[in-house]
Amino acid sequence: MASLWLPFFLVLIAPPPMRPSSLPWQDTTEGKATIAGQILSALERAAFFLEERLPEINLDGMVGARVLEEHLRSVQEEWAQDTLLQPLGMRVGTLAAKLEALIQQSLFYLRQSDPEYLREFQPTLQPGFWKLPHAWSLTNASLVYPTFEAQDSFSEESSDTCLVQLLGTGTHSSQPCEPSDACASLMTKPGCSGYCLSHQLLFFLWARMKGCTKGPFRQSQHHIRVFCANMMDLNRRAEAIGYVYPTRDIFMENIMFCGMGGFSDFYKLRWLEAILSWQKKQKGCFGEPDAEDEESSKAIQYQRHLLRRVKRREKQFTDGCSSHNTATAVAALGGFLYILAEYPPASRQQHPSTLPPPRR
Ligand SMILES: *[C@@H]1O[C@H](CO)[C@@H](O)[C@H](O)[C@H]1NC(C)=O
Repeated sequence: MASLWLPFFLVLIAPPPMRPSSLPWQDTTEGKATIAGQILSALERAAFFLEERLPEINLDGMVGARVLEEHLRSVQEEWAQDTLLQPLGMRVGTLAAKLEALIQQSLFYLRQSDPEYLREFQPTLQPGFWKLPHAWSLTNASLVYPTFEAQDSFSEESSDTCLVQLLGTGTHSSQPCEPSDACASLMTKPGCSGYCLSHQLLFFLWARMKGCTKGPFRQSQHHIRVFCANMMDLNRRAEAIGYVYPTRDIFMENIMFCGMGGFSDFYKLRWLEAILSWQKKQKGCFGEPDAEDEESSKAIQYQRHLLRRVKRREKQFTDGCSSHNTATAVAALGGFLYILAEYPPASRQQHPSTLPPPRR
């Protein structure tokens, strides 16, 4: 699972004061349809980008497409029953079918470009692997770490090793759900930020989706709550500094993962609006912002500096489109559509202390 850079400067700034956390979602069907229409248009453009560049989209990019597709299938079912939302539901269905076809086609290219990585992570491209939440809760600010670790101790290689152990897809791997002690320790280490933190969450999310319950997974729900509390804190910091470009990818990844973890407070209307505004309207992709002014060109220089540390599998196109950015964006946007369909008025919000396991 490729990551780009570690936006550690996020942890250097003070977190902003609390703002209302629940989203002022539309309570009327008309309001819902308006927002859903905007999200869908963005997703249709993004699917067009994926289709155009399919031979160059890496596995992580297609994982984003699969996560989106899972969300869409569920939304489609929900809206098939509502007269007003039926036309949107049909668009959703068409898009889901297109994504399914793209995922199948992409396997051909992925087999050529990185067969080993494909073998290890192919389960995450399969239908039904990603399970969506059916109960919602809120993050708990009292679980935020007193300090984040300042050192960049996250290694994509060791994180990948642990994820492969979890999936049980390595060449000399044992059974799924049986990570080594080193992995259990890495994946529960406190104080992580950035991609270290999001990959710790991913590890426990996948474990939950696979039904792992032994060893470190006895405490899965506790770890998930701690990680998402911290990811919420980091997202609020990213917002406070105006979402400068290097932070956008992790910001969207946090929404994608914690949203699937069932934390509804990641689905804020203003965060949705921010994400929609980052799409390159012509190309349909997400990535490096166009240099329009001094400020953003400074941010881009900083981002280029960080990009020298780009991990091996990130695919940055010369026109500023990023495969990973587009993947996290469409997966997060899929989550917004899903919660819109799944969880309408605020009165239905619950605060369960633990989440029931996702429906299988
Ligand atoms: C938040 O977490 C703390 C520490 O685990 C706990 O005491 C408190 O009850 C939690 N608050 C909510 C609203 O769940």
